[in-house]
Parts: sequence; structure tokens; C-alpha cells
Amino acid sequence: MAVYSFNLNGKLTRVEVNSDTTLLETLRQHLGMTGTKEGCGKGECGACTVMVDGKAVNSCLILTSQMDGANVVTIEGLASEGVFDPLQDAFMEAGAVQCGFCTPGMIMSARALLLKNPSPTDEQIKESIAGNLCRCTGYVKIADAIKKAAASAKERGVETWKL
Ligand code: FES
Ligand code: FES
Repeated sequence: MAVYSFNLNGKLTRVEVNSDTTLLETLRQHLGMTGTKEGCGKGECGACTVMVDGKAVNSCLILTSQMDGANVVTIEGLASEGVFDPLQDAFMEAGAVQCGFCTPGMIMSARALLLKNPSPTDEQIKESIAGNLCRCTGYVKIADAIKKAAASAKERGVETWKL
């Protein structure tokens, strides 16, 4: 066991875990962050996607020991004081959430895209969620939600996607 510290949703967080504990296990089992879902556990479904230093990563594939000093954002880090992130709003408005199991991972993948590219093409949107499986929606409403969120942020002219 060793202590690792990283910034989690804007707060310095210290956790004592084994060196082979994945970030997903740490989030769900040690820190109570169950918004990040566990699907396949081997990098194939994207349900466990979080942002690490601005990039979407599968938290089941990285170790907590690799997070020392990193900036980690989970789905819990998006809403602020009870107000949803514009991307979360767009998912709900577009009907892009059905059972909801894939949704946190989808949103984190899309969020990482919008952070680096606030005006993505349809192709870039598709690529950004290519590693996220959804068994319910057929992906069209999810892509629509991401497109709508990008368009509405542009209209507002604010730096919506900074975390
Ligand atoms: Fe990590 Fe499926 S649980 S990719
Ligand atoms: Fe059910 Fe995507 S909404 S898996």
C-alpha cells in the first residue's frame, strides 16, 4: 500500500491503495465516486471514462499510482452547485439518455473533445465517442446532444468548456 495524491474534481485528494489498484477501483471503492461506471473492465466499453489532464481515458486501464499529481475530472465534477454542465443539459434535452449506464463515460469523452475543440465536425464527434458503447440509443441522439451543446456554447460566446 502507498499513498497517492492527485487533484480530483478540483480538490486535492489523497488515497492509500495498492500499487496495482486501478483508478476505476479507487474512484468507486475508495472514494465513493460511483458516477463512473464499470462495464467490461478491460478497455472495451468506455463506461469508465474520466478526464485525466484534459484527456478522456479509460479508468479501468490506468493505475492510481500513475495519477500522482494529475488532474482528474469525473462526472461528479461537472455539475456545479446543483447546476448541470451544458453538456449534461444537452444530453437530457436531446433524449440521449435511456438506461444511463453509458452516459457518464459518453459525457466525459465528449467533454474532452469540446475542451480541445469547441466546434467539432460530425466526424470528430463520432470519433470522440467511438470507444464508448451504448446499447440503447443508437448513438444519433448522443451525437445530436454534443452538436447542440457545442452550438449553444458558441452562441453564448463563453468559455463554457474550461474546467
Ligand atoms: Fe473500462 Fe469498459 S469498464 S472500458
Ligand atoms: Fe443505455 Fe447508453 S443509454 S447504454
